[in-house]
This record gives sequence, C-alpha cells and structure tokens, in this order.
Amino acid sequence: MSQNMLFMLGGSGFIGRRVIQEAVRSGWRVKALARSEQSAAIIAAAGASVSEGEAADPDRWINEAAGASAIVDLIQPPRPKRLSRSRMRAIARQRQSFTRALTNAMLTLGADRRPRLISVSGIDDLAPDRNGFLSPDSKMRTTESGFNTVGIPVRDIIERSGVAASFVYLATVYGPGGPFGEAIFPAIAAGKWRNFGDRSDRMILVHVDDAVRGLVRIAALDRTQASGKSFVLTDIEPVAMTSFTGLAATSMGVSAPGRAPTWMAALFAGKPIVETTLHKEKIRSSFGELPDCGLIYPSYREGLPSTLRMLGKTVR
Ligand SMILES: NC(=O)c1ccc[n+]([C@@H]2O[C@H](COP(=O)([O-])OP(=O)(O)OC[C@H]3O[C@@H](n4cnc5c(N)ncnc54)[C@H](OP(=O)(O)O)[C@@H]3O)[C@@H](O)[C@H]2O)c1
Repeated sequence: MSQNMLFMLGGSGFIGRRVIQEAVRSGWRVKALARSEQSAAIIAAAGASVSEGEAADPDRWINEAAGASAIVDLIQPPRPKRLSRSRMRAIARQRQSFTRALTNAMLTLGADRRPRLISVSGIDDLAPDRNGFLSPDSKMRTTESGFNTVGIPVRDIIERSGVAASFVYLATVYGPGGPFGEAIFPAIAAGKWRNFGDRSDRMILVHVDDAVRGLVRIAALDRTQASGKSFVLTDIEPVAMTSFTGLAATSMGVSAPGRAPTWMAALFAGKPIVETTLHKEKIRSSFGELPDCGLIYPSYREGLPSTLRMLGKTVR
C-alpha cells in the first residue's frame, strides 16, 4: 500500500482544494475525483491529479483509489440559499446513498489495497456530555439539529459496512472563500448583515487553514490507532456573533451590524442554518492530540483580521 497517497472526494470545494494544497505541501501524492471540467481545473491547480467521476458511481472510479492510505470524503451536494428542513432531509438521503455506494465499492478492493475512509461532518452530530462539552468522546446526538440529519446516518452506514474509518467533526469553517468570504463578509461590508441568537449563544469556529492541517494530520495517523475514532476540529474560543461581526465591521471600516429576531433569520436562511451557527455547548478539540498541529489561529481574534486582509477588505 502506498503510504503517501490520498484520494479526495469534494476536492474542488472550499475546504477540499485547501486540503489538496496542504497535503501536497506535506509530501502526499493526491488524486481527486472531479465531475466536471471546472472542478478538474480547480483540483489540478491545487496540485492533485484528476480522476473523472461522480460520487454516485464509485464502481467506475474506485480502482483509482486502490492503494491510497486514505479516502477523504468532503462531498457536499449543492445547497440552496435558503435551507429548509425538508431540503436538508433530501440532501441527507443523497449523502446516505453516496456513502452506501462508496463503502460497497471500497469492499470490492482487496483488504491490503483498501484505504481508510476519513468521513467529514460537523459538530451538530455530537451530543454534549453532562458538563456541556462536545468532544472526541461525545456520543451521537439523538435529536435533529443543524446538519446532523446528514452526518449521523452517514456514520451509521460506514460503521455497519466494516470499512476502516475515522470520523472528523468540524466546527463552522471560516476563511477567505466559502460562505464567509463570498456572502457573510460582503453582507457586513454592505450594511446588510443582521446578528441573531440570544446572549448565551456562541459561534463555534475553526479557520480553514487549521481545519485542513488537522485533516491532513489525521490522514497521516497510524491506521490501526485512528480507525473507529472521532476527531473534533475547532478553535479554542466560542464567540458571540456580535463580537465576531463587530470585529469584522471595525476592520472593514463599516458600522457594526444590527440585530434581527432569530425566527426571522430562520425564515430567511432556514432553521438548520440557524441551528448550525449558534451553540450553547463548550468544546474540547482534538488539536492538542495531533502531532505537530498547534493552531495557527487559536481564535477569531487572529483568524478574522488575517482573513479580511487576504480578501483585501481591511482598512485598519
Ligand atoms: N464549510 C463548513 O463550515 C463545514 C462545517 C462542518 C462540516 N463541513 C463538511 O465539510 C465538507 C466540505 O464542505 P465545503 O464547505 O468544502 O463544501 P463545498 O465547498 O460545497 O464543496 C462540496 C464538494 O462536493 C463536491 N460534490 C458535490 N456533489 C458531488 C457529486 N455528486 N459528485 C462528485 N462531487 C460532488 C463538489 O464538487 P463540484 O465542484 O463538482 O460541485 C465540491 O467539491 C462537507 O461534507 C460539509 O458537510 C463543512
């Protein structure tokens, strides 16, 4: 088995293209699935070789992943601007069907050529312990919240399949690009953003550069030690939305955003988006346990100014 090959699903996405760059920098050979010429160009520019195919048809491309140390699954079906609960359930059904097909296809590979699956989800899947912490030891939540309609059944399918797998739970990922770079910071700059949630609600965040370093370190862990384990990738400081957007506004030289009732935010963006954005839990992340993986951006205080500078939005 080639210990230094990674196979990426979702390599053209916000997080995936940076995982490719980080993995290549760390000495991995990376192959990534692309379902269009546009995705193939993004993947090639990030430094991976392209395997053409669709997530729904893994039998057609699984041999390309044979011999890799890990398959990193960052697939996310396109989602509408307003994400209703019913649309979320449709996305969840699609992800379950991709996962079932993927694990079945992986089982057709000989055990000595079968990669470990690194399944990536969000912290909505995790239940707080009796002290209110989300952590790598968390059990799965039993109530529907945020994006967990997707992640919980996906994990169940993987565990039942018997393929070796690690489960990564990301906080909300921010950075230049993605929903923050493309929509949230421009809305704050234009005076159109409204904060929501109550005083005790916090955003639990991780900067994309830290998230991808964590993912690449997890891919490098010893297979027998890392299989069946959960990893939580978050920064150290849950933050009130008013603090986060207030610092963003100050840095961009605009007024701090006003407020909207949470029910109105749910009407506008969809209930799962509000739920995945606001948390009351505390957090214990896996960064401390990963080799050579101190956080570059321990909190939004470091990550936000750097992000806005990269986007060319900082005035002070
Ligand atoms: N972003 C966050 O804050 C966050 C937080 C927690 C967990 N996560 C998880 O992290 C993962 C990646 O998130 P992201 O923000 O990077 O998502 P993203 O930017 O939307 O990227 C999604 C990726 O999935 C690919 N894809 C979608 N449907 C496909 C299909 N049928 N066949 C092949 N490829 C397909 C897309 O390819 P195309 O380029 O061809 O469309 C793209 O590369 C997701 O599973 C998400 O749930 C993200």
